[in-house]
Amino acid sequence: MLSRASFAKHSFRTASTAARYASTKSLRETLQDVIPAKQEQLKKLKAEHGQTVVGDVKVENIIGGMRGLKAMLWEASVLDPLEGIRFHRLSIPDCQKVLPSAPGGTEIIPESMLWLLLTGQVPTPEQTRQLSQELAEKGELPVFVEKLIDSLPKTLHPMTQLGMGVAALNHDSSFQAAYEKGMKKQEYWTHTLEDCIHLIARLPALASRIYRNVYKPDAQLAPIDKNLDLVGNYANLLGYGDNHSLTEYLRLYIALHGDHEGGNASAHTAHLVGSTLSDPYLSYSAALFALAGPLHGLANQEVLRWQLAMQTEIGDNITHENIKDYLWKTLKSGQVVPGYGHGVLRNPDPRFIALQEFCQSRPELRESPIIKLVNKTFEVAPGVLKEHGKTKNPYPNVDATSGCVLYHYGLTEFKYYTVIFGVSRALGALTQLVWARALGLPLERPKSLSMDALEKLIKNP
Ligand SMILES: CC(C)(COP(=O)(O)OP(=O)(O)OC[C@H]1O[C@@H](n2cnc3c(N)ncnc32)[C@H](O)[C@@H]1OP(=O)(O)O)[C@@H](O)C(=O)NCCC(=O)NCCS
Repeated sequence: MLSRASFAKHSFRTASTAARYASTKSLRETLQDVIPAKQEQLKKLKAEHGQTVVGDVKVENIIGGMRGLKAMLWEASVLDPLEGIRFHRLSIPDCQKVLPSAPGGTEIIPESMLWLLLTGQVPTPEQTRQLSQELAEKGELPVFVEKLIDSLPKTLHPMTQLGMGVAALNHDSSFQAAYEKGMKKQEYWTHTLEDCIHLIARLPALASRIYRNVYKPDAQLAPIDKNLDLVGNYANLLGYGDNHSLTEYLRLYIALHGDHEGGNASAHTAHLVGSTLSDPYLSYSAALFALAGPLHGLANQEVLRWQLAMQTEIGDNITHENIKDYLWKTLKSGQVVPGYGHGVLRNPDPRFIALQEFCQSRPELRESPIIKLVNKTFEVAPGVLKEHGKTKNPYPNVDATSGCVLYHYGLTEFKYYTVIFGVSRALGALTQLVWARALGLPLERPKSLSMDALEKLIKNP
């Protein structure tokens, strides 16, 4: 088990952060403070620039999965194709400098990322600690959800189970209950926030119950420790609480992976479903089923499967030439190289780089055969993909390494990896639901066209 020592006894990584961003306000008070200015900003945008053109819609956008279309409002993060993600103007290295870490740790703690995403402000260590405590206090699952998950066949994919569990949690939705009583529009965001906090709090218990049922049916689930942070509890519940490095890795991975703009399939799904005023549980459940697709969240399990197959085929003779041959074999068989390419990025993913740095900081990972293979593949794959000439981005995305680190630390059940991604992505998708309700964003309803209608429009624009 992880240390239960109270947060207060430990100093967080960034003592200077507290000085720079000192505030004693709660999360709700901080949001109350920042929302009016954003509402004003949106009102002004609508009034002064409602008719301003900011881009063209080309036929290739319509038939090309809406790539590049600027068509969604998403407050918490913006993705630059070359630089990567910024969370409220902070790049990943900025976040690593200023966001508090866990007691005894050095990596970003997801609670501090959640606070940043929600409020645009860097929390103090004390605010982070308070949020951790709140999440731990709300972390127990209702008994009926435990029974529901326990009744599912262990052969059912863990992502299906996660989506079902999250949907069932809407039994206790504050938003839904208040809506039925006729709450005012101005109150939407407060009830949405309550649901989002409850949902994030319960994800470790839900996700670890699925893990236990599917892979370790005889294991006892640890109780939630009220003194631990979200990932500290998650690691304990998974049975890896003793592994400090893995717990730190999970904190970093879950924090960094929490949001990646709004257009990716899972975030967009949550946003779309939320725009119907479905509650956060139903909205995020839908998002999880988008995340379960191989071109999206399933990629990390695919990377591991692919790297292990490569390892089996080329054995100990890991040379650039052998890896190159294997890459070409994959491409010639009509498959994509998992972990490479991206819908928006056109450079190596800074999240991949941050995880690589984590690997370099740990001697056991530096020596790990699978991590060595990931590194060697990175030295060769961009060249091969450029020569292949199809992908717009021949560089690695975050999934090129994420699952391989879990594998090294003994969490080898790779069908489960997307569940961890699902725990992470809740931070960003749920943040946006709060903002969508605070800003009163409307029902999403883009216009679709048939090919005939499109041809007609091309002739007579
Ligand atoms: C992420 C991904 C889905 C983005 O798709 P996209 O935006 O359509 O990517 P592109 O515009 O670069 O695709 C153009 C072509 O290159 C191909 N391509 C893209 N990435 C590729 C890869 N890693 N290996 C081989 N071919 C690739 C596409 O399949 C497409 O081929 P097509 O014209 O025959 O359909 C895609 O790069 C991919 O499948 N990567 C592997 C899976 C993965 O790592 N997913 C995790 C994403 S975080």
